Amino acid sequence: MSDPLRPPHAVRPVTALTAVLAMLLLTLSAVPSSAAPRPAADPAAQAALLTEGPAVTSPDGTLTLAVSVLDGRLTYGVSRAGAVLVAPSGLGLRLTDGTLLGGDVRITGHRTRSHDSTWRPVWGADAEVRDRHEELTVELRQRDGRTFRLVARAYDDGVAFRYEVPRQRGLRSLEIIDEATEFALTGDPTAWWTPRDDNSDENAWRSTPVSAMGASNAPVTFRYADGTHLSVHEADLTDYAAMTVVPRDGRLHAELVPTPGREAAVVTGTGRALPWRVLTVTQDAAGLVASHLLENLNPPCRICDTDTSWIEPVKYVGIWWVMQQDQATWETGPRHGATTERAKRYIDFAAANGIEGLLAEGWNEGWGGDWGDQSFTRSTADFDLEAVVAYADAKGVEFIMHNETGANVENYEAQLDEAFALYERLGVNYVKTGYVGDIPGHNHYDQYMVNHYRRVLEAAAEHRINVNCHECVHASGEMRTYPNALSREAVRGQEWDAFSEGNSPEHTLILPFTRGLSGPMDYTPGIMDILWDPQRLGRRVHTTVGKQLAYYVTYFSGLQMAADLPEHYRGAPGLQFIRDVPARWDRTEVLAAEVGDHLVTARRSGDEWFTGAMTGEHARTLRYPLSFLGAGDWVAEAYTDAPDADYETNPTALAVTRTLVTAADTFTAELVRSGGQAVRFRPATRDDLATLPRLGAATANP
Ligand code: NOJ
Ligand code: CA
Repeated sequence: MSDPLRPPHAVRPVTALTAVLAMLLLTLSAVPSSAAPRPAADPAAQAALLTEGPAVTSPDGTLTLAVSVLDGRLTYGVSRAGAVLVAPSGLGLRLTDGTLLGGDVRITGHRTRSHDSTWRPVWGADAEVRDRHEELTVELRQRDGRTFRLVARAYDDGVAFRYEVPRQRGLRSLEIIDEATEFALTGDPTAWWTPRDDNSDENAWRSTPVSAMGASNAPVTFRYADGTHLSVHEADLTDYAAMTVVPRDGRLHAELVPTPGREAAVVTGTGRALPWRVLTVTQDAAGLVASHLLENLNPPCRICDTDTSWIEPVKYVGIWWVMQQDQATWETGPRHGATTERAKRYIDFAAANGIEGLLAEGWNEGWGGDWGDQSFTRSTADFDLEAVVAYADAKGVEFIMHNETGANVENYEAQLDEAFALYERLGVNYVKTGYVGDIPGHNHYDQYMVNHYRRVLEAAAEHRINVNCHECVHASGEMRTYPNALSREAVRGQEWDAFSEGNSPEHTLILPFTRGLSGPMDYTPGIMDILWDPQRLGRRVHTTVGKQLAYYVTYFSGLQMAADLPEHYRGAPGLQFIRDVPARWDRTEVLAAEVGDHLVTARRSGDEWFTGAMTGEHARTLRYPLSFLGAGDWVAEAYTDAPDADYETNPTALAVTRTLVTAADTFTAELVRSGGQAVRFRPATRDDLATLPRLGAATANP
């Protein structure tokens, strides 16, 4: 097939401040366009920039965002503990009428407010999230009389700002060609970025100094020389085009994904706030992963007024990897994957192993030929939808519907209500969507498509349906507002190991600090038969089995796949961990982290804790204290790369140990290259105390 299934790749600033800004800008304009922005030479001047004029400082006093106008241009800067992270950077919107909103402007007033509340997500990494911030609203007037506002917030784990444009005479609608928002990072931090592509988030991640960075999709993550981490992204992406991050003239620029054939990337009404531009700033890499900043910057839940019991994270198996490896087809024919018989077999496997869902791809009419006439309600002759759903239901398994639009968005929208009504009638609460191919007249992440993905989430909620969107626009913390957005792709996931040279060990360690920050991620872990290469094309998964298990804890998702074939789980020692690990969490702690290198995460679910430890291309030994455990004795059931494991030559060698531990112990994860460790900690029973060795005793861990 010409593979449609596989994506192609009020105060005028005081005089002293004006002088400081001028000096900084002079410094910056002297930087050649290919070089990275440099910090101002004089630290005292940097500090002055951030203590004068309208500014907002985080509750803990560490982070400051200062706003000013320099030569008529709206400008901001950011400092952490007195060190400038973002030198004076331009703000504004370029409109189709030739205006640079923010270009010939003065501050007419400003006000501040404090906020401190705690909210409980329907599901998430933590059962409670604190939203504590300081907010600054700056009133602005253009020379032509038009007004707008900049709203800025400072949290302990980052700063954010957004434009608000009131309804007014002379500005009834906003036609935005692009933003004039800049991020002039100081120094030359390390950047983790992924090549800009307005139709794909499935490129490999890269690591270079900012000065060597190319145009990137968002988020992008940076590490400064002093270890400070900063990630640039957006939140509350509503009726707008997605943001990309593009280096030009020695600084980074927010650029919007265009709509083909239209001058304006965004056409929208006034009287609204635009998406937040967010800089998550933490003292280390672990802080980034622990942050809830993007969720805090999205509105509270819009679909939680009535019963939310249908919004439930689950693990699932799928008639899927077998097609990715070309041992069955999505299309009907002698090798059709989604048959009633196979679905029942997979459901039996799921039910026997406490896996709550089954995905069946290629169940419906219209695959292969002209995607335009695909049906989302009629199943193929060899797939009895009602019988399969009833069979799953009888076994306590959720059926996960698959809607591959083949990029025919119009055809999908035309059937959306009817299809979702059918799914609701059948009792189906989960849908995986897909948008493989070129969308006629649109980019995957332009304003129309951003709105489309939102429409699908809203329509799904009306029918009690959770969504896992593939080829979707990047997540931006909307799981707070639409918790039925249980997962999404927007990542070069594990499927690439089946049909390309695959994902590098480092790629999988960059993800939690970049893509992973934006929201739940359907990476599709759980391959046990790592070397399975039925096509004999030299394609395979580039990890050990231990790392596949660690993903269940380190990669956050409301839908966690057990991606391998049922027959490959038979006899696999790792299956027990997949049975035990939950998809729903109550608390998360990041125990050790370095972008691209390693990550150790601990998560609690009910009265059990789980840890996942994983490494990139280097073997390493990680030690972490078990102080997160409660009092008493615990059993640590550890699944670790065996000493002779190697991700290239011996990836399935796994050591399974059971030892007694307490919160006073330190645990060890001895990891081989691209390896991992997954541990379940459960309260010890009397029997365990009588039979199991203590950690460090005769059978050392592992
Ligand atoms: C690409 C998706 O990412 C993958 O999961 C799916 O199997 C194919 N499209 C077919 O819809
Ligand atoms: Ca995909």
